Amino acid sequence: MTKPLSLKQSVLAVISIIGGLMLMAAAIDPGLPLGYWDQPSAKVPSSHNWSELEKDLRPEACAQCHAAQFNVWKKSLHAHAYSPGLVGQFPGQGLAYANDCLVCHAPLKEQLYTDSTDMDDSILLRLKHAEGFDADADYDVNDPDAKRLPLRHTGVSCAVCHVRNGDRFGPPPRVSGAVGKQDTPAHGGFTATKDFEQSQFCASCHQFPDYMAINGKPLENTLTEWKNSSFPDKGVTCQVCHMPDRAHEFRGIHDPKMVKKGLTFSLTQQKNSVYFSIASTWIGHAFPTYVTPKVIVEAEALNGKGSIIQHQQWEIIREVAYQGDGWKELRDTRIMPGETRQFLLNPLPTDARSVRYRVRVIPDNFYKGIYESLLSDDLTAVAGAHIRKANEQTAKNDYLLYEEVITLNQAH
Ligand code: HEC
Ligand code: HEC
Ligand code: HEC
Ligand code: HEC
Ligand code: HEC
Repeated sequence: MTKPLSLKQSVLAVISIIGGLMLMAAAIDPGLPLGYWDQPSAKVPSSHNWSELEKDLRPEACAQCHAAQFNVWKKSLHAHAYSPGLVGQFPGQGLAYANDCLVCHAPLKEQLYTDSTDMDDSILLRLKHAEGFDADADYDVNDPDAKRLPLRHTGVSCAVCHVRNGDRFGPPPRVSGAVGKQDTPAHGGFTATKDFEQSQFCASCHQFPDYMAINGKPLENTLTEWKNSSFPDKGVTCQVCHMPDRAHEFRGIHDPKMVKKGLTFSLTQQKNSVYFSIASTWIGHAFPTYVTPKVIVEAEALNGKGSIIQHQQWEIIREVAYQGDGWKELRDTRIMPGETRQFLLNPLPTDARSVRYRVRVIPDNFYKGIYESLLSDDLTAVAGAHIRKANEQTAKNDYLLYEEVITLNQAH
């Protein structure tokens, strides 16, 4: 039971509610400035009178005050988007080609290559720092060693999403929920907008325009897939799943735990058949959303000695290929949000005693093909070194997502 309010208390409560409403009505969400994702620049204009630390756009500098975001983000693929597999494709392609790729992998004006020499030097530097970006939150930003890697090497960095012309933009503060300009002690305050909480925020890099469709669907179609699912009505945005409680995780197909969380498996026998099903219960887009991963489902019937006497395999993939005059879709067997897919073994061999199901994930299936074909070409020494490294890494990314054995009852 809550204590009833005295008359004075209730009058005050009403006034404070009205006051709150008025404040909320007064603050208009400015949204993201027009052209936020259009040739973005984070550079601090000279008019700002800030400390060196506040002007420093590298994530190590943000980390001095925002360690929580930094420590999680630095393990994400966003932090590693300036990758060997990317830059290894640049030598011989020219500046314009490379910068077109950087518009998603390292898009700030301060990250793009200024000329071919800048590009060649940067690709070489990336090779010297083979592990890529690896600073700690307690890095001494004044240490000359800490400055060794330019902003470009931090890929989809803090400033890419949060800074334009020196000014910070972020979601409404958790407690006040206020929008508009916020006066806070550092970097001249910041602008709060609910646009940070919208799925649309992720679109400039995770959704291609419709005119680039192949068989009706662009190569990247994640936002449209999400819009066609039941998640928008439930208020479940990209951020809800990929930034839980605002944590900068961005985990996806490369993370077995994340993938398991999105799916529900079931394995049962009914008479002469074994039913295995995968339901997409917590994925806001196709599983998987891109043309790059491949998921393999395997069923093996085993006899009393444990030998395999029957084998069947299915592939979950959107497969595209460049053929003659353009891209063609070869097949699309991906599982849509809310869908349940059956993988049936029927009829079972009479001497089968058990059935084993396995689900394997090859997150970088498409890139494996690209790297193999690049390596069979005449690559420059630097390009070759990058692509070999990328190829080794993609092989390590494969994993077993699920394995279960069902012992058959003798009815079959
Ligand atoms: C000297 C300390 C300091 C540095 C360095 C710093 N910040 Fe901040 N930042 C703050 C403070 C203090 C606030 C206001 C309180 C809060 O939200 O944490 C803030 C607020 C923010 C917000 C708004 C948070 C919200 O609630 O929406 C964002 C976004 C942000 N900073 C991004 C950055 C980025 C990106 C960098 C590096 C380029 C950076 N900051 C560097 C201290 C700092
Ligand atoms: C890919 C874009 C992206 C990158 C990169 C990114 N952020 Fe964010 N950040 C967001 C979004 C979106 C939100 C709001 C999430 C929400 O509301 O669910 C956010 C929220 C924040 C907040 C407010 C957190 C809170 O708890 O209220 C801070 C501070 C912040 N980011 C700082 C950083 C720093 C520092 C980095 C680099 C280490 C960084 N961000 C990298 C997109 C990004
Ligand atoms: C500036 C472009 C950009 C923006 C904005 C952006 N991303 Fe990304 N994202 C990328 C790139 C590039 C990669 C691939 C990094 C790599 O592996 O090289 C990526 C990777 C990811 C991955 C990991 C994919 C995997 O294969 O496992 C997830 C998840 C993700 N992003 C979610 C988001 C979400 C959610 C948002 C919005 C809050 C967002 N991204 C905004 C460019 C962006
Ligand atoms: C519209 C945004 C966008 C553009 C432009 C873009 N990429 Fe990506 N790239 C992504 C995203 C998102 C991912 C992560 C999802 C995936 O695995 O496909 C990615 C992943 C990759 C990967 C695998 C992960 C890694 O970093 O090793 C490579 C390699 C790559 N891109 C190369 C390129 C090249 C080369 C270009 C230019 C021809 C390019 N990308 C242009 C968004 C983009
Ligand atoms: C209901 C939760 C949920 C929502 C909403 C959601 N995702 Fe995902 N996402 C997942 C899960 C789980 C995975 C891992 C399984 C997979 O790859 O499909 C994933 C994987 C990914 C990947 C990895 C690449 C791939 O081929 O699968 C990217 C990129 C991604 N999501 C981006 C987004 C973006 C952008 C949005 C918003 C338009 C979004 N996600 C909305 C749960 C979600």
